[in-house]
Amino acid sequence: MYSLGIDIGSRNTKIVIWDLIRKEIAFQAYQSTEVSAVQAVEKLLQLGAQHCDISKITKSCVTGYGRKLYRNADKVLSEIVCHAAGCSQLFPDTRTVIDIGGQDSKIIALDSRATVVDFVMNDKCAAGTGRFLEMTALRLECSLDELSALAERCDRELQLNSTCVVFAESEIIGLLAEGNSPQNIAHAVYMSIAKRIYAQMAGLKAIPTLVFTGGVAKSLHLKICLQKLLNSEIKVAFEPEISGALGAAILA
Ligand SMILES: Nc1ncnc2c1ncn2[C@@H]1O[C@H](COP(=O)(O)OP(=O)(O)OP(=O)(O)O)[C@@H](O)[C@H]1O
Ligand SMILES: [Mg+2]
Repeated sequence: MYSLGIDIGSRNTKIVIWDLIRKEIAFQAYQSTEVSAVQAVEKLLQLGAQHCDISKITKSCVTGYGRKLYRNADKVLSEIVCHAAGCSQLFPDTRTVIDIGGQDSKIIALDSRATVVDFVMNDKCAAGTGRFLEMTALRLECSLDELSALAERCDRELQLNSTCVVFAESEIIGLLAEGNSPQNIAHAVYMSIAKRIYAQMAGLKAIPTLVFTGGVAKSLHLKICLQKLLNSEIKVAFEPEISGALGAAILA
């Protein structure tokens, strides 16, 4: 017997098929949300069917930015509760979740019983999200993984003053034209995102254990910058983008 969790994000759609007996993930996958979120879910389910018997799925739950687009799920839940449940499954002592996706960022505070007690969300500005990293990678002509590796080789602190991705792009072009290295520019971008998240966290009581989730949690350098600012260790799951779908499957 399985439950199905679906997280339709602004960039990626994720599914987790949860084994209700063994209490473990039977299948997980993600793909770009593209134009049709419903099609993305169906494609992922077809993939899932190659790994487990999906006729044994007895309940399902959908979450994420596009959750209202998918009408075949038994339950619809907010990203806040699903990320909290998913992270608590991966790291049972989770008390603070930092979720950074392609379009927004959320900080979620949990109590010792993994119940959400508070959260703050930024969905107004792309400067603290994956979009900022994507734009930078495009400008520096590298992949997102290369961008993190690049930033680790920085040798000078540069200041990025723009508070908006559109202006930051012009600032990056200017910094390159002045002869600044891609390494130092990449580091400045990560620091700028980390400072935004740090400021956002001031809105609630963030206590350890801190867990960083969402696709952006794959950038090791951002984790390092955040750890430095927060003066606290941050945990990241092996595949951090699936925690919302995992939580949805558990809460289905
Ligand atoms: N290797 C990587 N390093 C850094 N960032 C990455 C990497 N791979 C993906 N990302 C970022 O993760 C984002 C996708 O993450 P995720 O799937 O959590 O977003 P989403 O849930 O679709 O968005 P949202 O929650 O904002 O609606 C991509 O847009 C990209 O910016
Ligand atoms: Mg998301």
